[in-house]
Amino acid sequence: MLQHPPIDAPLPDVQTKRLTLRRFAAEDLGALEALFAKPEVWQFPYGRGLTREETGTFLDAQLREWDGCGFGCWLAIEHATDRVVGYAGLSVPTFLPEVLPAVEVGWRFDPNVWGRGYASESAAAALDQAFTTLGLDEVCSIPEAQNERSSRVAERLGMRLARLVTIPANERRGALDARLYTISRTTWLAPVGE
Ligand SMILES: CC(C)(COP(=O)(O)OP(=O)(O)OC[C@H]1O[C@@H](n2cnc3c(N)ncnc32)[C@H](O)[C@@H]1OP(=O)(O)O)[C@@H](O)C(=O)NCCC(=O)NCCS
Repeated sequence: MLQHPPIDAPLPDVQTKRLTLRRFAAEDLGALEALFAKPEVWQFPYGRGLTREETGTFLDAQLREWDGCGFGCWLAIEHATDRVVGYAGLSVPTFLPEVLPAVEVGWRFDPNVWGRGYASESAAAALDQAFTTLGLDEVCSIPEAQNERSSRVAERLGMRLARLVTIPANERRGALDARLYTISRTTWLAPVGE
């Protein structure tokens, strides 16, 4: 089955006001291991930080997704410090088969930088690219129902709650209650005030 709608062109790297957003590379493993070991970063869905092996598996999957789909998540590097502070971008929500084919916008940042708007800033850049360069008609976001901070990011972006969903259990966690947010190209590209 088709997992995501066709795209017009691949997702480029971009610069925002405060962040460099670039495709993951194999050399990012060390920076990601330190970030992902923090329990807050993976509280949802695992309630704990990731082991080095799990981070390696995550990065391998990211590199495959970029190669296979022409898009993926960006590593987020703070201009002010040149530090890796998180990731954000586009991915295929294979964990929720009922919405496929689909593209999800997602985010995950170091707790040291929460509350500054980095997730919203990078997700806005991802939506800009999704609806222009990639030519998508719709993008979703699927935070866990208990993840209020993440839901606030989706709402700040102007995404609409479509319905509540249950993410099926997998080998690493049980089933999860989540919120399905969506936004269309028309809504995202509408001039402010319409
Ligand atoms: C989800 C997550 C990225 C949200 O982080 P965040 O810092 O709350 O989100 P943003 O970076 O968009 O920042 C928004 C907050 O900064 C404030 N802010 C300050 N300056 C801002 C600016 N220039 N622009 C936007 N918001 C700004 C906002 O008011 C908002 O605070 P509020 O939610 O208390 O009103 C973060 O909690 C996280 O990484 N969690 C762990 C991983 C995770 O759960 N990811 C999601 C999986 S679905």
